[in-house]
Amino acid sequence: MKIITVVGARPNFMKAAPIIAAIRKYNQAVAKAGAELTHQASVPSIDHILVHTGQHYDALMSDSFFADLNLPPPDIRLGVGSGSHAVQTAEILKGFEAVLLRERPDVVIVVGDVNSTVACALVTAKISFDLAGTRPLLAHVEAGLRSFDRAMPEEVNRVLTDHISDLLFVTEESGIQNLRNEGISPGTIHFVGNTMIDSLLVFKERAESSSILDRLGLRAPAGGNGEGKPIKHYALLTLHRPSNVDNRDTFLDILSGLKELAEDCPIVFPAHPRTQQRITEFGLELRLEINETKMKKEDARDSRSRQGGIILTEPLGYLDFLCMMKHAALVVTDSGGIQEETTCLGIPCVTVRENTERPVTVERGTNIIAGTTKERIAAAIQRQMGRKDGSSKPEKWDGQAATRILDVLIRVNNERTVSRQSVISQSGA
Ligand code: UD1
Repeated sequence: MKIITVVGARPNFMKAAPIIAAIRKYNQAVAKAGAELTHQASVPSIDHILVHTGQHYDALMSDSFFADLNLPPPDIRLGVGSGSHAVQTAEILKGFEAVLLRERPDVVIVVGDVNSTVACALVTAKISFDLAGTRPLLAHVEAGLRSFDRAMPEEVNRVLTDHISDLLFVTEESGIQNLRNEGISPGTIHFVGNTMIDSLLVFKERAESSSILDRLGLRAPAGGNGEGKPIKHYALLTLHRPSNVDNRDTFLDILSGLKELAEDCPIVFPAHPRTQQRITEFGLELRLEINETKMKKEDARDSRSRQGGIILTEPLGYLDFLCMMKHAALVVTDSGGIQEETTCLGIPCVTVRENTERPVTVERGTNIIAGTTKERIAAAIQRQMGRKDGSSKPEKWDGQAATRILDVLIRVNNERTVSRQSVISQSGA
């Protein structure tokens, strides 16, 4: 069986990594069994190809994640880079079609909801390798999530990808219901858990070796590596949604909602490239007294004496960010994945959006949907700071999602091979 897995943007890497690890483990088991069985035909291993579209290309947005997550280097790079949605999607469509025609995989796996996801899904659903219309099985990992807000590009990507996929791997129960409500055949829906949480559970302990707390002056100063030293009280902030950062008034209102929190403790703000651009464009560094410069190693010491304020940093790598989430008093974010990661870690989260496509993080987890006005953000922060944790881990967020996905892929692909062979033998009879 030949599988292509597609990654493109930062949130894809941690979702794909466990699937690639599961394939590696499967191949090792096959090789071991093959070495032991000399007289029987051995089970074929999986031929895996990792395609990186290049939607995210920076060292900080892409390369560092490959290193942290032990991902193999991409076998194929499309190198599409940034552009409008139409240009970026079109470049991926062209590049990925050539890859499929050359590689002719049995399965294509797309993850999440970014432009790379929908573009590669569309190519796979419409390709044809022969006159019989043979094409790969299309598997969508993280299917069924819905914010019911079509103004979000990710919602459009999710809906379109789900409706053309052959296998839909769902992370939470709401996903099953959403897909059924949209008329998707129940036989294609598989509730497997969350591969992003698989990664989190694998790397949670390793994140402790990150030096980010020391670099930001969030540990008591000490010799050595500072381990075992008390960690200061701090909050973590991420904002990157165009609807939050592209409009100056909205961005200002959100930052105003954080004023009281910033007086109480430092807020570490690793800023996405889009957000960094807007901060400069809107002159927010001066206006909002974000007086910490973008973190450079030599600047980090300056924050040691800080009692509060917003500490602006470059985007952090996976292990650094995981370490920051684990020890934060509170996380304020507009990201999708961080709502899930904080739920799993039991860290209070305030989501600066009007909706979430991940309701389980509110119903069973640690998340509050605050909206984007300063009053509601401030009130949600106050509520969350006084929170006594009452969350429970959502069903199947147990580190086994990737294994479940691989089991389904192998079974369905085998069934498809058998049914094709029977068609061939009938037509030859
Ligand atoms: C994309 C995803 C979003 C995801 C986010 C995580 C879509 C529609 N959106 O949004 O769902 O939450 O990634 O980061 O796919 N840039 C760089 N370096 C990079 C990548 C981007 O500087 O490596 C800058 C470019 O100026 C670019 C801007 O960031 O124009 C936006 O990048 P883009 O990939 O278009 O969308 P994101 O906002 O990152």
